[in-house]
Amino acid sequence: MQHIQVKTSMPSDVCCGAGAADRLSEILKEKEVFVLTDENVYRLYQDFISRTLPNASVKVIAAGEKHKNRRTLFEIIDAMMSARLHRNSWLVALGGGVVGDMGGLAASLYMRGIGALQVPTTLLAQVDSSVGGKTAIDHGGVKNVIGTFYQPRYVLCDPMFLKTLPPREIKCGLGEIIKTAALDSNIYEKICQNAQRIYDLDFLSEITADCVRFKAKIVGEDETEKSGKRKCLNMGHTTGHALELRYGRRSHGEYVLIGMWLESFIAEEEGVCTHEYAENIRSLISLAEKKIPLFKDAESAAEVAVLDKKNEDGKCVSLILPKTYGEYKELFLSIDKYKKYLDRLSGAER
Ligand code: NAD
Ligand code: GLY
Repeated sequence: MQHIQVKTSMPSDVCCGAGAADRLSEILKEKEVFVLTDENVYRLYQDFISRTLPNASVKVIAAGEKHKNRRTLFEIIDAMMSARLHRNSWLVALGGGVVGDMGGLAASLYMRGIGALQVPTTLLAQVDSSVGGKTAIDHGGVKNVIGTFYQPRYVLCDPMFLKTLPPREIKCGLGEIIKTAALDSNIYEKICQNAQRIYDLDFLSEITADCVRFKAKIVGEDETEKSGKRKCLNMGHTTGHALELRYGRRSHGEYVLIGMWLESFIAEEEGVCTHEYAENIRSLISLAEKKIPLFKDAESAAEVAVLDKKNEDGKCVSLILPKTYGEYKELFLSIDKYKKYLDRLSGAER
C-alpha cells in the first residue's frame, strides 16, 4: 500500500493499493456516516457497504453524467437531512467521478462542511477526480460550473473495484493517465515501456499511485488554480468538455482522449511542439482509443468552449497544449481561429 499526502489547506491522506478500502471501518469507527453511491456501484458493492459500514445511511443515485445536476444535488442534501447528519458526520463518496464530484459538493455545502472521504471505484476517479478537492455539478449547458474546492480528508484507491469495471471505463481512466503522461516524463516512459500491459490491473494499480503522486504535487502547489500551475491538469479538456457538452453519448474520459488528440494537431500547427512529439502523444492516445470519431458541425462546439472556466475574457479559448516531454504551454486562440481548427480537424476532410 502506498500513502501519499496532498498538502493543502485541509490535507488529504491518499492510500493506494490492495486493501485500501478495508481501512474504512477503522477510519470511521464510531462516526455518523452517510454513504453516497450510484445504482451500478450499489448493485455490485452492497455487501461491501454493509460489511464495512454496517450503521451507515446509504443514498443511491441514478448513474451517469446526465444526473450530475442540481436536482440530484438537492436530492442528496434532502437525504442527508433525513438521516439527521450533524457537523461531525462524514460523507463517503463510493463511486466514479460523478458520485465523487457531487458527494464532495454536498459535503462542502451541508452545514457549511462535513467530513468527506472518497472511495473512487473507477480508474478515472482513482487516478484523477477523487484527489485534489474539485467538486461540482453541471448546469445551464456548462460542465462543472457550480462547485467548490473542498478537500476530502481521506481518499482510498483500492484496485479491487477495477475488477468489475467494463473495458470502456478502463479506457476512460486511460484518458486521464495519458494526460498525466504528457505532463510527467517518468510516467510517459513507464507507459511506453509497458504499452502491452496497459489494460493489466497490476500495471494500472502501480500507475494509479504514480498519477496520484503527480497530482498531489501540483495540487499542493496551486490548490485553487490561482497561480496557473494546476491548469496543466486540464490538458485536452477544453476541446473534450466542449465536444462532450455539444454531442454527449461518450464519457468524459473518452472526450479527454479525443480532445488531446485534436489539440495535439493545434499544438503542432501553432509551433508549440514538434511534429515528432505530437505524433508520440497521438500514439500514446491510440493505445486507448483506436479510432477518433468525426464530428459533424464541430465548429458549434467552439461556442461551448468559450464558456469554459479557464478562459479569462470570454472571447478567446484557453488550450493547455503539450510542448515537450513533461512540459506544456497555455495558448489563447481567438474563437474564429479555434472554430476553423475544430471544423477542419474533426470534420470529414480531416
Ligand atoms: P462515472 O462516475 O459516471 O462512472 C462511470 C460508470 O461506471 C457509471 O455507470 C458507474 O455507475 C460505473 N461504475 C463505477 N464504478 C464501477 C465499478 N467498480 N464497477 C462497475 N461499474 C462501475 O464516470 P467517471 O468516468 O468515473 O467520472 C467522470 C466524471 O468525473 C465527470 O463528471 C468529470 O467531470 C469528473 N471529473 C472530475 C475531476 C475532478 O477533479 N473533480 C477530474 C476528472 C473528471
Ligand atoms: N482534473 C483537473 C483538476 O483536478 O484540476
